[in-house]
Amino acid sequence: MIRRAPVAVLLSGRGSNLQALLDATGQPEFPAEIVRVISNVPGAGGLERAAAAGVPTMVVSHRDRSREAFETALLDALAEGPWPEWVLLAGFMRVLGATFLAAFPGRVLNIHPALLPAFPGLHGPAQALAAGVVQAGATVHVVDAGVDTGPILAQGSVPVHGDDDEARLAARILQLEHRLFPMVLRQAAEGRITVAGRRAEVRLAPGETRWLVAPPDMP
Ligand code: GAR
Repeated sequence: MIRRAPVAVLLSGRGSNLQALLDATGQPEFPAEIVRVISNVPGAGGLERAAAAGVPTMVVSHRDRSREAFETALLDALAEGPWPEWVLLAGFMRVLGATFLAAFPGRVLNIHPALLPAFPGLHGPAQALAAGVVQAGATVHVVDAGVDTGPILAQGSVPVHGDDDEARLAARILQLEHRLFPMVLRQAAEGRITVAGRRAEVRLAPGETRWLVAPPDMP
C-alpha cells in the first residue's frame, strides 16, 4: 500500500479544480488523499462536489471577522480532522497571511489563471485580454506572504484567439488548470519539491514537464 498524504482544499466557488483533484486522488495509486474541503462562501458549488465524493466539508466565513480571526478559524476547522500535510487553494478568493501560512510553511499551494508574474490578483484572463498578449495560461505556485508572488512550480500556456472574451479564455485556461494541479499535487506528495529562496526545484518523473502546452485542437 502506498502512503497517501492528507490534503485539505480551500475554495470559494464552483470547484472544477477540486473535481480534478478528487478525480486524481480517487485513483488507488495516487499518493495523496483529500481529507477536508473548506469554503469561505456558504453554498459554494465545490462543497457539493466534495460531499458527493464523501469528503467532509465545512464553511468558515470571512465576514465580520478580522483577517487574523478568519485564519485562526480556518486552522481550528482543519484541526477537527486529520491534520493536512498540504493545503491547496482551488479558487479560494481570499488572501492568506502570516497567521495561516506559519502553520504550513511552504505547504500551501495555489492555482492562478495567468502566467505569473504577469497578471496577479483578480481576473487574470481579463487582465491578459486587456494587455493584448497572444499567450495566456495558468500557474501553480507555493503561497508566500505576497499576492500570487510565491515560487512557481508549474505553468501551462494556451493561445489567445482574436475573438476571445473573458469567459472563453478563462474556460480554455481552466482545461489546463485541471491537468496542472493534480500533477503538482503528486509531485508535492512524493516529496519532489524543494524551495530555495524565490525558486522551486521539482524532481520530474519520466514524461513530466514543468511547462504544459495546450493541444492544438483545444477550443
Ligand atoms: C480558477 O480559474 C482558478 O485559477 C481561479 O479561480 C478559478 C476557480 O475555478 N483562482 C483565482 O483567480 C485565484 N486568484 P473553480 O472553482 O472551477 O476551480
